[in-house]
Parts: sequence; C-alpha cells; structure tokens
Amino acid sequence: MGNGIAQVAARAGFEVVMRDISDEFLARGMKAIDKSLQRDVDKERLGSEEKNAIVGRIKTATELDALKDAFIVVEAVTENFDVKAEVFRALDTITMPDAILASNTSSISITKLGATTQRPDKVIGMHFMNPVPVMKLVEVIRGAATSDETYEKVRALSEKLGKTALDCNDYPGFVSNRVLMPMINEAIFALYEGVGTRESIDGIMKLGMNHPMGPLTLADFIGLDVCLAIINVLHDGFGDSKYRPCPLLKRYVDAGWLGRKSGRGFYEY
Ligand code: 3HC
Repeated sequence: MGNGIAQVAARAGFEVVMRDISDEFLARGMKAIDKSLQRDVDKERLGSEEKNAIVGRIKTATELDALKDAFIVVEAVTENFDVKAEVFRALDTITMPDAILASNTSSISITKLGATTQRPDKVIGMHFMNPVPVMKLVEVIRGAATSDETYEKVRALSEKLGKTALDCNDYPGFVSNRVLMPMINEAIFALYEGVGTRESIDGIMKLGMNHPMGPLTLADFIGLDVCLAIINVLHDGFGDSKYRPCPLLKRYVDAGWLGRKSGRGFYEY
C-alpha cells in the first residue's frame, strides 16, 4: 500500500520520499506506480509528461534518515505491533519535532503507537484502502492523545490527496475492519462447513449484495495473513469469541497460501 500512498501524494503535487528496507522492494514499488499511472495515460486521462513529473516527485531511500525533513510520515510497514513500534520510536528521534507521524495500520491501536513516542499528540491513523489510487476513503483514527490540530491537518491533507476523510475513534479494527473482517471470516466458515463452494459464496455476495468482489476474492486481494492478523486483533482486543478466526484461514496461512501475492489463496493466480 505504501507505493499507492506515495503515488497519490506525488500526483497531488507533494514531494515524496518512499522508504523501504531494500532496493528490490523499492524497485517493485516504483514499477507498481508506473503501471498504475500508465493505465491513466492509456485512457488519455493523464499526459506522458505529467506522468513523468509525478514519478519525478518520488525519491526512494533505504535509510530512515531520508525522512528527516518530512512534515508528515505515513508508516505502512507489516501489520505487527512490535515492528511498527520500532519504526515509530526511530521516526520520533529522526523527524522534526512538529512532524506528524501517521500510521496506515488496518487495526493496531493508534493510542499504543502514540505512547511509544514523545509526541502522542501528533500520532494519528491514516488508513487508506486498497487499491489506494482508486479507493476514495481515508479512515482517520484519533488515538487517546491525538490533538485537534493534528486531526484537522490530516483531514485537510486527505482531501488534498483527492480522498474523503471519515473519522472514528481508536478501538480494535476501527470501523472498516470491524465490519469487513467478520464478514470475510464468516464467508470462510461457510466454505469450511461446506455451505457453498468458493464460487457460489462469492457469486451470492457479488450478485446479491452488489459487492464489487466476493468476500473470498477480496480476502485473497487483501492477503490472508493480513486478514488473520486483523481478526486476531479483534479477537484479542474485545475478548469475544464471535471474532475467532476460522481454522481454514489459519490452515491456509500456515501453508503459505496468502492469496494473490503468493499465487494461491482461495483461488489460484
Ligand atoms: N491503480 C490505478 N487504477 C486502478 C488500479 C490500480 N492499482 N486497479 C484498478 N484500477 C482502475 C481501473 O483502471 C479502472 O478504471 P476505470 O473504470 O476508470 O477505467 C477501475 O479501477 C476498475 O478496474 P477494473 O475494470 O480493472 O476492475 P474492477 O472493475 O473489477 O475494479 C477494483 C477493480 C477497483 C479493485 C474493484 O474490484 C473493487 O472495488 N474491489 C473491492 C476493493 C476493496 O474492497 N478494497 C478495500 C479492501 S480493505 C482494505 O484495503 C483495508 C485493509 O485494512 C484490509
């Protein structure tokens, strides 16, 4: 999602530094940006020169230090609290004291991430949806200590990026994944219990509810490891058995069948 966020920011005219842990991941991110922008060039919605200018506004770096002049950092590392906390602690020492530190987390507590820094008032959730260039929403999540000023700035920034900002408070899964993941988990239970085939479950939700993708296709698109991590956050956070992950989802993740990105999930790619 990081490359999608870099793309929309650069397209809105911002100078962007896209940072990842290896040159290989950065190259993959730049390739995704190129492919996504090229769709619009092919449809004559973007000129080639404009596309080059957008790409030219994105600098890449493997060193965290490259973010030291940023007025906002949007973190999009793996969905694991310890990894995110390490990144936030490092960002807190590297960036300017008034820089905003936002997280694109799907479900991890913004309040807890804020508490790992000396500036919890400037820590906020900025949850983009996949694919970032297409989806209109940014779910803005206020932690217990997030200031009104930070919230207003992030709201205005989201709108400059061409998105609609909708806000919610910091509880497990926020609103988006509190509602989406139990539906996906239930679809997996329906498959596990033989209520329907993958095609019938997805087809019923697509044709019956007008969802653009069926829940199993969507789970593959999001990544089954990400889905499991989010459901576990709901399960641990609320301590309610209604959020227990389906054993079939755990089995697929154990097998390394993570969806589209690994070539196999509920479907083959
Ligand atoms: N970059 C730029 N444009 C893209 C794109 C990308 N990566 N992917 C698709 N598009 C554009 C296409 O060019 C096309 O544009 P047009 O209609 O203006 O010509 C449009 O999107 C539709 O694409 P396609 O015709 O190729 O395919 P679909 O009609 O099937 O749409 C989809 C693809 C937009 C992904 C649609 O299937 C969809 O909306 N799926 C549901 C996505 C969703 O639910 N996302 C949220 C996931 S949850 C999440 O992210 C939160 C996290 O915390 C888990």
